[in-house]
Order: sequence, then structure tokens, then C-alpha cells
Amino acid sequence: MLARMDYRPLGRTGWNVSSISFGGWAIGGTWGPVEDSDSQKALHRAVDLGVNFFDTADVYGDGHSERLLARLRRERSEPIVIATKAGRRLSPHHADGYNRKNLTAFVERSLKNLASEALDLVQLHCPPIDVYYRPEVFGVMDDLVAAGKIRFYGVSVERVEEALKAIEYPNVQSVQIIYNMFRQRPAELFFKEAKRRQVGILARLPLSSGLLAGKMSAASTFAQDDHRSFNRHGEAFDKGETFSGIDFETGLAAVEELRPLVPAGVSMASFALRWILMADAVTCAIPGAKRTGQVEENVRAADLPALSPAIMTAIERIYERKLRALVHHNW
Ligand SMILES: NC(=O)c1ccc[n+]([C@@H]2O[C@H](COP(=O)([O-])OP(=O)(O)OC[C@H]3O[C@@H](n4cnc5c(N)ncnc54)[C@H](OP(=O)(O)O)[C@@H]3O)[C@@H](O)[C@H]2O)c1
Repeated sequence: MLARMDYRPLGRTGWNVSSISFGGWAIGGTWGPVEDSDSQKALHRAVDLGVNFFDTADVYGDGHSERLLARLRRERSEPIVIATKAGRRLSPHHADGYNRKNLTAFVERSLKNLASEALDLVQLHCPPIDVYYRPEVFGVMDDLVAAGKIRFYGVSVERVEEALKAIEYPNVQSVQIIYNMFRQRPAELFFKEAKRRQVGILARLPLSSGLLAGKMSAASTFAQDDHRSFNRHGEAFDKGETFSGIDFETGLAAVEELRPLVPAGVSMASFALRWILMADAVTCAIPGAKRTGQVEENVRAADLPALSPAIMTAIERIYERKLRALVHHNW
């Protein structure tokens, strides 16, 4: 049975994007072994099922993820929106690097990788906090729009406070932020503010790096080149990007408490994604997927009925009891 996709407006862009979209990090790398043939099939399946929004970055597989998406666009006639990111090619990753010369070069490189004349949406890629206090950076992005190199821009942030600061810039169309059953703080103040200003919200790590799909156990292992092995404590990048910053065992225990709440006939992954869509400020969730089966399961969330108030309250209680103290005031 095919699930019915639903679409939500993305900021003031005029685009309506699929509420379950596609995260393109894992198809680029840093998630253990991945075959391009599987990735291509997963991407095509997503389009078959009505997904029209794909998130990627210039650094995912050093451009490999962008190039796979360029190929997808070539092979399909359906219109798709591709959001990429800029900034993380900087090494060291300093606020001063977010200047006209570097941002222009990053955009030019993504234009090549994506074989496009203009990039749909470019997100500053979790820049250092100082960047949000430099209007000139946002001025450069405005100039890139005026030059026809990019259509719209947004930000990807680590912290709620960065999100609140970013949306003070009037041309920021979207904020990408970690939001899932393990990371609930964005819904407090930020969602209200984003909605008031008509800024789109892209919910990343919607499955908490796969934990919330409910298929992992204490015996699960991850390849050496998978960030779920090498970034458990933030060794390579922000700790929050791996399992939402919660230690694996605590995450597994919370999943076991959530499991009885999942309605019969619904998978835990679909349930976790449906929870995200309960927030009407959210434009879309962008689950990463490497295989067609994952895409199918994830997309099904868009067609599930709303979760009951009793289930929503039970999820909130689990968060309050098991997770809040570990995450709420860190991001
Ligand atoms: N700084 C940033 O801007 C930033 C940072 C992180 C992510 N992102 C974006 O957000 C997207 C999503 O975040 P994420 O990929 O980190 O985390 P996620 O979506 O929470 O988890 C994705 C992983 O979960 C597993 N999975 C997906 N669907 C599944 C299913 N139905 N059943 C079982 N397992 C499933 C897959 O891994 P396995 O099959 O290997 O278990 C997949 O790679 C990324 O792809 C990227 O586009 C952006």
C-alpha cells in the first residue's frame, strides 16, 4: 500500500515540500559502508513516493552526496528541491572564514557538483556562534541571491539560541535543527518565533541517528568510519550530532519505554517521525536513509493519523524523566 504524502510550505519560498523528506548525509559517507547502487535506488524510491525535498552538504563524501542528487535530478522529470550547505570545508572552522571569498567559492563548487545554474537553498553549516552576530555574512548571502547563484538561504544550527538569533535576519528562510523525541526543547520558544516569522523548520536527526527506529540493541556495532563509533563523545564534531548527544545505553533504555506506545501495525521509525509532524511549525523531517526499505517505512509516517493526546503526554513524561536533564540545557 502506498502512503499518501503531505506537503507543507517552506518559509516564504513559495515551495511546498514533502513533510517526510530525505537526508543525504549517509549516502555520502561517515555512516559505514554504503553502495551507490543502493543509494540511487533509495533516492528514486523516495521520488516515487512523493518526496520532493533533499538535504545534502558540500562536505558529505566531499561532494559525493551532491553529485548523487545531481544524477537523481537528471534521471527524473518530477521537480525536486535540493538544499545544500556551506562552511564546513573551512579548516580550521573559524567565524572569519565565513567571508565573501570563501562563501562564493563554496557556492561555485556546489553549483558544479549539483550541475545547476542556481542552488535552491544554501544553509550555513552549523557555523561558530560569532557568525550569527555578523550581519555582513548574511549580506554576502543576500548578494549571492541577487547575483542569481542561489535562490534562497537558511541556516543549520546546533543550539536554540543560535536559531533565535538567525531568524532576526529577514531573508533567512529556513532553520535546520535537531528535533526528535529525545530533543524536545526547540518546540518551546523557537517554534513559536519561527512560525510568527514564517521561517521553515527542517527537523534533522529525526531518528536520533537510527536509535528511534527501534532496531538497535546493546549488541549493535558500527563500522570504524561510522560516526556512531568515532563521535560518541564529540571527538570529531558536536557530540549532539550522534544519537542526539545521549549515551547509547540511555537511548536504548528510553526506546524500550517508548515501544509500548507504538500503535499496532505501525513501525517505531514511522511513529518517531509522526511525532515530529505533530508540531505544525515543522516543515519537514529529513530522515537519512541508505536503502529503499528505510525510505518506504519513513514515508509511511506522513500518512499516519495524529497521535492521541494520551500518547503525546506519555512521550513527554519519558522525556522529562529520562532525557531532559541530559540534553535540555546543552543545546
Ligand atoms: N549539521 C548539520 O547540518 C547536519 C548534521 C546531521 C544531519 N544532518 C542532516 O539530517 C539528515 C538526517 O539526520 P541523520 O542522518 O544524522 O540522522 P537520522 O535521520 O536520525 O538517522 C539516519 C539513520 O538511521 C537509520 N535509518 C533510517 N531509516 C531507518 C529505518 N526506517 N529503520 C531503521 N533504521 C533507519 C539509517 O542508518 P543505518 O541503516 O546505518 O542504521 C540512517 O542513516 C542527514 O542525512 C543530513 O541531511 C545535518
